[in-house]
Amino acid sequence: MTETSKQDRVLIFDTTLRDGEQSPGATMSHNEKLEIAGMLDAMGVDIIEAGFPIASEGDFEAVSDIAKNAKNSVICGLARANAKDIDRCWEAVKHAPQGRIHTFIGTSPLHRDITALSMDEMANQIHETVSHARNLCDNVQWSPMDAIRTEHDYLCRVVEIAIKAGATTINIPDTVGYTIPRESADIIRMLLERVPGADDVIFATHCHNDLGMATANALAAVEAGARQIECTINGLGERAGNTALEEVVMALKVRHDVMPYDTGIDTTKIMGISRRVSQVSGFPVQFNKAIVGKNAFAHESGIHQDGMLKNKETFEIMRPQDVGLSGTSLPLGKHSGRAALRAKLDEMGYPMADNQLKDVFVRFKDLADRKKEVFDDDLIALLRDAGAADQNERIKVKFLRVICGTEAPQSADLTLEVDGVDKQITCQGDGPVDATFTAIKAIFPTTARLQLYQVHAVTEGTDAQATVSVRLEEDGKIVTGQSSDTDTVVASAKAYVNALNRLLVRREKSAPDADVKTVKYTDAV
Ligand code: KIV
Ligand code: ZN
Repeated sequence: MTETSKQDRVLIFDTTLRDGEQSPGATMSHNEKLEIAGMLDAMGVDIIEAGFPIASEGDFEAVSDIAKNAKNSVICGLARANAKDIDRCWEAVKHAPQGRIHTFIGTSPLHRDITALSMDEMANQIHETVSHARNLCDNVQWSPMDAIRTEHDYLCRVVEIAIKAGATTINIPDTVGYTIPRESADIIRMLLERVPGADDVIFATHCHNDLGMATANALAAVEAGARQIECTINGLGERAGNTALEEVVMALKVRHDVMPYDTGIDTTKIMGISRRVSQVSGFPVQFNKAIVGKNAFAHESGIHQDGMLKNKETFEIMRPQDVGLSGTSLPLGKHSGRAALRAKLDEMGYPMADNQLKDVFVRFKDLADRKKEVFDDDLIALLRDAGAADQNERIKVKFLRVICGTEAPQSADLTLEVDGVDKQITCQGDGPVDATFTAIKAIFPTTARLQLYQVHAVTEGTDAQATVSVRLEEDGKIVTGQSSDTDTVVASAKAYVNALNRLLVRREKSAPDADVKTVKYTDAV
């Protein structure tokens, strides 16, 4: 790489598996994390933040296994500002061809208050912890959490300390999504100008989306000199999420004329990974989401359709193919064979091994018998259900019949298989879904609270599949289950059971207070 091209290259740091997984309800299984990491590596992500190794045994194992399987990406783990966290992080990332320790501490007045450290005490701690990390690993990233609300003089001081202690990347997080593009750029410019040694490290930008400006703020930071963007697939992340990988990458590609920076991302893999992350995290992508939303390339009005037929560039600034869509969406039907299904799945970015295809084909035939046309989105929903069935499910829906209509009471006759044993019950409720959920709770009692119940149609028509999302909360642990079926009540029952299965996995995997969502950042500071 020449000096000039190095200046124009922006590194993509994906934190879907760490910051993204911190979204309430977005818990992924071990295998799902490995699969997503493999996809990120294959699409050209420079650095994958694979998790928070001290947070739980499960997180440690996930980061270690991702590190062992890494091909091209640097594998990074998160650590608070203490030796125990940093040692544990190194134990996990050291298996990667290239590992990185990412250590952080909150530097704004609000965070200094919580840790009860004076400015000088915190400065010392930064020096000690970054030096400790650098003694273990020559690739160290340091973040002053809530950098945007940190006094500028103090921010310059602590960044200088971290650089002197051996940090190779300095990440500037807008932890609460508070900044605006001009300020985001000014802070990077100030650090580059004022901090001795700033030219020898890479500055990163990490933006949250609380005011809907995460992507704009990240790009402004790049224009000011940041050369690493931290982001997640579909913008997953705490609260309103993070900068979305697909947005910054496509913005840099489409507006290369005014932002002449390159990433190493193969953009044709964007749609496939977006769909897979949506499936495994249980977070549907909003229809009008930039780049990856269902409507991002749809044209409804006559004027737009007419323009598109004459010249696609009239209403499209990028081609669907650029992000991995075929551009056409011909439905399959009940006469479609295995070869047609395989070709369609290949084209959609889901290549299947023979044994996987066998299972998916059976499900496809079952759906095609009930539904006239099977669209891409129907297939995606079907794949999600096939994936869910793969994960050792302790509870399964075996039989459901509901009586509903204008005459109360509505009732549900339900059989669940729990750990291989069939259990049957009939319950009444205020509507068919309430009766069904009451029956599930009667067979498998928990203290889990239903936080969210959401239904949306996958495709059009009265025979459309309904995708149902169910979010449960138990002792601060939040899980989301999803399922799809042409019968909304069946989809609801399966989504509830899917959430319960995920809850059981989380109960097993995380000891109390040892979970990425419950671990406190002041512990052992
Ligand atoms: O938002 C944030 O500040 C973070 C840090 C841990 C980098 O995610
Ligand atoms: Zn963050």
